[in-house]
Amino acid sequence: MIHIAVFASGTGTNTRKIIDYFRHHASVAVSLIVSNQPNAGVLSIAAEEGIPTLILDKEHFFRGDAYVGELQKRRIGFIVLAGFLWKIPPALIAAWPGAIINIHPALLPKYGGKGMYGRRVHEAVLANKDTESGITIHYVDELYDHGNIIYQATCPVVEEDTPDTLAQKIHLLEHASYPAIIEKTIQLQNQR
Ligand code: GRF
Repeated sequence: MIHIAVFASGTGTNTRKIIDYFRHHASVAVSLIVSNQPNAGVLSIAAEEGIPTLILDKEHFFRGDAYVGELQKRRIGFIVLAGFLWKIPPALIAAWPGAIINIHPALLPKYGGKGMYGRRVHEAVLANKDTESGITIHYVDELYDHGNIIYQATCPVVEEDTPDTLAQKIHLLEHASYPAIIEKTIQLQNQR
């Protein structure tokens, strides 16, 4: 069994889809929800589902061992970021090479980097009068929103769009794509 840890700090709509997708999976299980926000909505989902949680302490994450030992103890084989805003420390990237992925609500390399998350991304897309936006699923490296791209999907942006309507379109794309891309990426990693 490959055990996934989902790192999330928001409401967790993607996390919910990921849990649903792998609920009866033969070889992949969502085994841990990790958050830096003790009040994050995603923790209620974990509680409902009976999935263990881990709340990160900033000092331990950035200046300690980045929880490598703790995650190894829990036999985590793959890490999925789904609305996690802290940068991933080098120790974690080194311990899970090619096995940490993120989803970003825009077509990287556009609209990525520090501070570009959530509503701000959609506001920037609308301010630039782009006619399309979308999602990017990518490997995580030591820079924000920078690792190799695994998958992108697009949606049209129309004049009537607001940050909220665009966010809705993007969430639909994310929910439809992320779980299956996670599955494929895990399969690929295990063939190496
Ligand atoms: C998603 O839009 C994702 O692209 C970004 O954070 C958001 C998380 O949303 N990285 P949710 O908490 O899964 O609803």
